[in-house]
Amino acid sequence: MRILFIGDVVGSPGREMVEEYLPRLKRKYSPGLTIVNGENAASGKGITEKIYRQFLQAGANIITLGNHAWDKREIFDFIDDAKNLVRPANFPEGTPGKGITYFTYNQLEVAVINLQGRTFMAPLDCPFQKADEMIEEARQRTPLIFIDFHAETTSEKQAISWYVDGRVSAVVGTHTHVQTADNRILPKGTAYISDVGMTGPYDGILGMEREAVIKRFLTSLPVRFEVPKEGRTQLSGIVIDIDQKTGKATKTERILINEDHPFFE
Ligand SMILES: [Fe+2]
Ligand SMILES: [Fe+2]
Repeated sequence: MRILFIGDVVGSPGREMVEEYLPRLKRKYSPGLTIVNGENAASGKGITEKIYRQFLQAGANIITLGNHAWDKREIFDFIDDAKNLVRPANFPEGTPGKGITYFTYNQLEVAVINLQGRTFMAPLDCPFQKADEMIEEARQRTPLIFIDFHAETTSEKQAISWYVDGRVSAVVGTHTHVQTADNRILPKGTAYISDVGMTGPYDGILGMEREAVIKRFLTSLPVRFEVPKEGRTQLSGIVIDIDQKTGKATKTERILINEDHPFFE
């Protein structure tokens, strides 16, 4: 079983990269499951129903979210009916949406779990305890379990990956928008990367207009961050191969497409 995961898609430049490259990536890698993190897909903040559907249309099977899940108010109108959309499972009890979903490919079921870290982030339920709960639930059905861990610090990301090593197929980090070069398979078979990186503007700062971000640093004044409309773009992702019987990862390959790292078919 091969999983293709695309990191945080930022605004229309990110969505255009998905439209352009997802079909080509799917031709090249033939994944059984394609997952896209869409928390920044609508002008850098949140996701709309239209964009959710566009991702599915472009070839994604599951969309994950993160701390920007609620930024577009219309999410509340469609999240409970969006079968292929997950938000962090450790949001407070009673929050709309769900933190785990299952995708079936060739009669193989894969559980996709979204969790969010707590270090330098909102004080949510414990992601480690929630991971235990979700994994126990998922393992009743399948050994193929994928976690998008949306968190700020590499320490929290590494900690959760070691905590669940051997119990899930993969833990991929999202949220910090910069791809890390530490993809590996832990000793008991869990694939890991601290951060998959961002899909969107290449010359901004974490995908936002750099002038505004620099101004915030220089002045500490409130500044509105926008996604740049023009300029160079990039796509960040990872491909993970999993043994379908054991659920253990066998191979990882980082994907980074931009002008400095061209795509080869
Ligand atoms: Fe993000
Ligand atoms: Fe985030």
